[in-house]
Amino acid sequence: MILETARLRLRPVSGSDVDALVRLDGDPEVMRYVSGGAPTPQEVIEGWVLPRAEAERRAHRTGMWTALDRDAGHFRGWFALRTPRHSYHPEVELSYRLAREVWGRGLATEAAHALLDMAFRELGTERVFASTMAANIASRRVMEKIGMRLSAIHLCDEDILFGSGSGEVEYELLHNHWETTTMSWCHARTPIGRSQRLVTEPGRHAFGDLTA
Ligand SMILES: CC(C)(COP(=O)(O)OP(=O)(O)OC[C@H]1O[C@@H](n2cnc3c(N)ncnc32)[C@H](O)[C@@H]1OP(=O)(O)O)[C@@H](O)C(=O)NCCC(=O)NCCS
Repeated sequence: MILETARLRLRPVSGSDVDALVRLDGDPEVMRYVSGGAPTPQEVIEGWVLPRAEAERRAHRTGMWTALDRDAGHFRGWFALRTPRHSYHPEVELSYRLAREVWGRGLATEAAHALLDMAFRELGTERVFASTMAANIASRRVMEKIGMRLSAIHLCDEDILFGSGSGEVEYELLHNHWETTTMSWCHARTPIGRSQRLVTEPGRHAFGDLTA
């Protein structure tokens, strides 16, 4: 499934992304709250990350999407929805990673909104959750901006590795809450002129070729 937002095109990750993914994970700042700054070896991306994403896509229509600049097609990073293996409810985990040069432009928030919409509208999930190191303020802020709420705090001894001293946090958004806070139900009641303006706002998006 391909998703488009105002500024990004999200398509399923593929073998052609290996170099870009290795470069992305080679930036210690990008990996700071993921691995303590350590890069991901190319063999791991080829032998585990990509096959896992493909298996997810086939089994659940979830997986990893490569984020490309919508106009120029430049690689910007990736977004993922993962289906937990042992789960009693339909739920997916949201995650994201962007190249440092595009941080702070609202891109993560924009694309995460699109994936939330897809998860609730197309996949019929009941809960979307996301977790990160408590010290990862940028990631937490994205979760807050897309309407997620803090649902768990895990204190852990691995803080020595990350130097954060504050453990891990989990945020969630439930289908009911999403439904009452998105504009979709509003549109039916909103004068046409108003909803037309909303559709052109950054962050609005459209679903693309469902067979891709
Ligand atoms: C997390 C990440 C995807 C955010 O991407 P982004 O496109 O910069 O995010 P956005 O611009 O949509 O939003 C970031 C928000 O965090 C805020 N922020 C960033 N760093 C901050 C800091 N140190 N203190 C306070 N706020 C901060 C920004 O101001 C912005 O909030 P605002 O819109 O209210 O001003 C990006 O930083 C990244 O890829 N980090 C490395 C990988 C990672 O940590 N992934 C998450 C692991 S679970």
